[in-house]
Amino acid sequence: MKNIVVLVSGGGTNLQALIDAQKAGKLPNGRISCVISSNPKAHALNRAKDVGISTRVIEPKSFSSKVQYMQALMEALFQEYADLIVLAGFMTILDAQIIRAYHNQIINVHPSLIPAFCGVGYYGIHVHEQVLERGVKYTGATVHFVNEIADDGPIILQKPVAVRPNDTPQTLQQRVMEEAEWQILPEAVRLFCTNRLEVQDRTVIIK
Ligand code: GAR
Repeated sequence: MKNIVVLVSGGGTNLQALIDAQKAGKLPNGRISCVISSNPKAHALNRAKDVGISTRVIEPKSFSSKVQYMQALMEALFQEYADLIVLAGFMTILDAQIIRAYHNQIINVHPSLIPAFCGVGYYGIHVHEQVLERGVKYTGATVHFVNEIADDGPIILQKPVAVRPNDTPQTLQQRVMEEAEWQILPEAVRLFCTNRLEVQDRTVIIK
């Protein structure tokens, strides 16, 4: 059984999708063993507590440097015996030490079709603002392994979502979550936990 540690910072709807998948028996060979939040007020923490998942808060502002913050995060991941780390709306870029320690064991959900609308500065609602500003007809979501460059790692799953003429950033964000993120994130976790993912260079093969 693989220990899944979910890192969050906010509302936690993607965490909820994972909790629901686990309850429905859709995460065989995996269990959400801990939720770590960078924000003590994150609603995601309530979602975890409601179903008895252990939680930790590790806040950047409690540390005098990013190096020390990342060290504390890494120690927590070791203590939790993490096999898979899921970034589910986690708003801090991990440092190279953690990424190297958990090579191809960290996955991130991003609210666009990578390589569009991604990288440093593209997060949360800002992604959807940029999508509408550019006038693309399709956006979507991507789940990918994390490497040392933001939103650059091997892509596991993607799902497109049509942009509607009357969309606002908020309506688009909601539809991208419902139609794409909440589906492909649990599916990618299932594939990982059942050893179905093989990374060859920049490509993920689904076995
Ligand atoms: C999600 O849309 C997720 O894809 C995005 O933040 C939101 C978190 O929502 N993540 C990023 O933009 C990371 N670059 P949630 O807390 O309700 O899951």
